[in-house]
Amino acid sequence: MTGPLSGKHIIVGITGGIAAYKAPMLVRLLVKAGAEVMCATTEHAIQFVTPLTLETVSNNHVYTDLFDNKNPHSTEHISLKDWGDALVIAPATANIIGKYANGIADDALSTLLLSFRKQVLVCPAMNTQMLESPALQRNMDILRSQGVAFVESASGELACGTYGNGRMAEPDEIAKQVCALFTPRNDYKILITAGPTYEKIDAVRFIGNFSTGKMGFALAEELANRGCQVSLVAGPTHLDIKHPNIKRIDVLSAQEMYDAATSEFQSCNAAILSAAVADFRPDHAADYKIKKQSDTDDMTLHLVQNPDILATLGKSKRDNQFLIGFALETDNELDNARKKLEKKNLDFIVLNSLQDKGAGFGHDTNKVTIIDRNGNIQHGELKSKQLVAKDIADKLFLYLNNL
Ligand code: CTP
Repeated sequence: MTGPLSGKHIIVGITGGIAAYKAPMLVRLLVKAGAEVMCATTEHAIQFVTPLTLETVSNNHVYTDLFDNKNPHSTEHISLKDWGDALVIAPATANIIGKYANGIADDALSTLLLSFRKQVLVCPAMNTQMLESPALQRNMDILRSQGVAFVESASGELACGTYGNGRMAEPDEIAKQVCALFTPRNDYKILITAGPTYEKIDAVRFIGNFSTGKMGFALAEELANRGCQVSLVAGPTHLDIKHPNIKRIDVLSAQEMYDAATSEFQSCNAAILSAAVADFRPDHAADYKIKKQSDTDDMTLHLVQNPDILATLGKSKRDNQFLIGFALETDNELDNARKKLEKKNLDFIVLNSLQDKGAGFGHDTNKVTIIDRNGNIQHGELKSKQLVAKDIADKLFLYLNNL
């Protein structure tokens, strides 16, 4: 069946609460959205909803027992863990939340949960006092910190006859959130650095490089057109860019780029550092114009190292952030790029070789090789920087959409 969940395998875990009567409706909605669904229940759940009902709506066997001989995976009850693309517990009692948070595995569902490594969505349903109890809240926090998502319960009349929070979210809301897990997002926030940096020698001179910023600006435009919010930290460049999704931050020196990039990165999903950052700066910049001392004297500049922005972000990056660097090499290109990928803790690196005609600084074209952490190497042809930007954005979206 086609739909947002087409081709997806969803496990619906059902535990023993009155809201279990809504589980068949949820299963139907997931099947209608294109998913293949398998149900795994606790013993108490089947007091509220019969396995026959679940079997009928899911059109699949229902797992109720650790050592169930009827199911095709009977000896390896946890093999469902490999089958499922996501697992939804609806309704989730305080008991299953407590077991899951504390690693207790004493039935089919809790055993499966302990071994399941993909996205789990928990839909709590219980009375208000239980929901608000410190123990339950602590268990929910433990699960949240492990990346488990919750579909919050609603307020209303509860089975115990009282009013309050604790009603399981409605099946259509839960189904919507399951669909959202598999709907590619495009509202990511991305940091891009672009262009050269200028390192001041005195009031009128600087050390710079030939970078024009074209590659970084093409990336900013491509990602903004895809719906991303882009923070573009740009060194001195003549390029112009106007897009409602692009926030441009102009900087001059490597230190200014470092300050802007490290502060922006914290709220970003990914960063692509394409700037040609000066590795060194004069240890002291005169605020006047330095004069020749005599007609014959040489002049010596003492340079100190600038901070490495990419390496700094690599050190601070969280598991859900992606980092992409550029490498401009003249020889031993692949080897050097791989070393930078490792050393700076990148997800992938875009290699430019100065050996390639039409690639690198100033050109409207570029020829890049993309190398990722798993050793995949993607060699590109010489093409416009806009098309190279599309290739890089495609690769980045593979990472982002698997978050
Ligand atoms: N980079 C950075 N900050 C620096 C230097 C480099 O963020 N101070 C980033 C660049 O934007 C690029 C990557 O690091 O994404 C690689 O830059 P490159 O100059 O090729 O490498 P370096 O680490 O400076 O190494 P080397 O100069 O030895 O080749």
